[in-house]
Amino acid sequence: MEITLFSPLDMHLHLREGDMLKAITLPSINDFASAVVMPNLRDPVDTLEKVQTYRKQIESLVSEHAFEPLMTVFFRSFSRQELIALKSHIFAVKLYPAGVTTQSEKGISDFSAIEPTLEILQELKIPLLVHGETNGFVLDREKEFLPMVERMAQNFKDLRIVMEHISTRDSLRVLERYENIFATVTVQHLLFTLDDLAGGLLQPHLFCKPIVKRPADRQALLDAVLAGHPKIMFGSDSAPHPLDKKEAPGCAAGCFTAPIALPVLAELFERHEAMSRLQDFISGHAQTIHGLEPLPKPVRLKKEPYKVPQTFGSVVPLLAGHTLSWRVSSRGD
Ligand code: DOR
Ligand code: ZN
Repeated sequence: MEITLFSPLDMHLHLREGDMLKAITLPSINDFASAVVMPNLRDPVDTLEKVQTYRKQIESLVSEHAFEPLMTVFFRSFSRQELIALKSHIFAVKLYPAGVTTQSEKGISDFSAIEPTLEILQELKIPLLVHGETNGFVLDREKEFLPMVERMAQNFKDLRIVMEHISTRDSLRVLERYENIFATVTVQHLLFTLDDLAGGLLQPHLFCKPIVKRPADRQALLDAVLAGHPKIMFGSDSAPHPLDKKEAPGCAAGCFTAPIALPVLAELFERHEAMSRLQDFISGHAQTIHGLEPLPKPVRLKKEPYKVPQTFGSVVPLLAGHTLSWRVSSRGD
């Protein structure tokens, strides 16, 4: 059996910098026509100059591959002039609350100060991507942040807001309530719960922010995604860290998933008899929501065993060593 996915899009991807960028870019982008590249580098990508420099670094690595990076900037208070200049160079602005995840220390701690920038984003039609978590109890962080998302959606009705990597039923309810709210979902939040991460021996490669949640949360996400919810897009949140930062006390948050995402999703959608919905989850919904043109990159998958490598360079992928029932057989025309 074979399927072809047209113009697969990863709406949330971490490509890092320096040696890690060089090592993981190709395996991360190989199966995708385009991806939204996160700006949480050690020095956050928060100016036009930094966006241009980062884009050039990525483009030099992907030069012979059909791939378009969709750049983002790290949210701060921007002037109208700055955002006008940025608009043609970025896909979106990414908002991190301060300290909630990897390299987010320069994120927002005073939310009362963000409104003038949101006003300009709305006016210029630049989407706002949100890491929606507080610094509260780990299982409640996403839920606790929802009133903030709702406030933004109410006050800025024409601002396109994407709740990134949603992990709870509560977020699905908010998604239903506001026309201008959309969401991305990862593979790990569709596959795993807190029991898989910490119910037996601790599994560091399943540790990410937001943390995987309760069975009812995973089920609700699965139901929505498999039913073809039009406001939900695939975003891997593939977030590589070197093995020695994962298999260590003080394990870094992030699952490395981009190189295995399509086979995992094919297996999941097939198991639930929802294969006909995979194309929209992986591309169609994002095209409609954001007005993106499909790119000429079909990716074919075959139903054949694929053993996930133990490592990609210094990084251990999600499901390392597991055998999946689908593999990518060819990319491109
Ligand atoms: O687990 C995560 N890792 N969640 C994020 O939001 C950031 C990411 C990273 O950059 O490592
Ligand atoms: Zn992320």
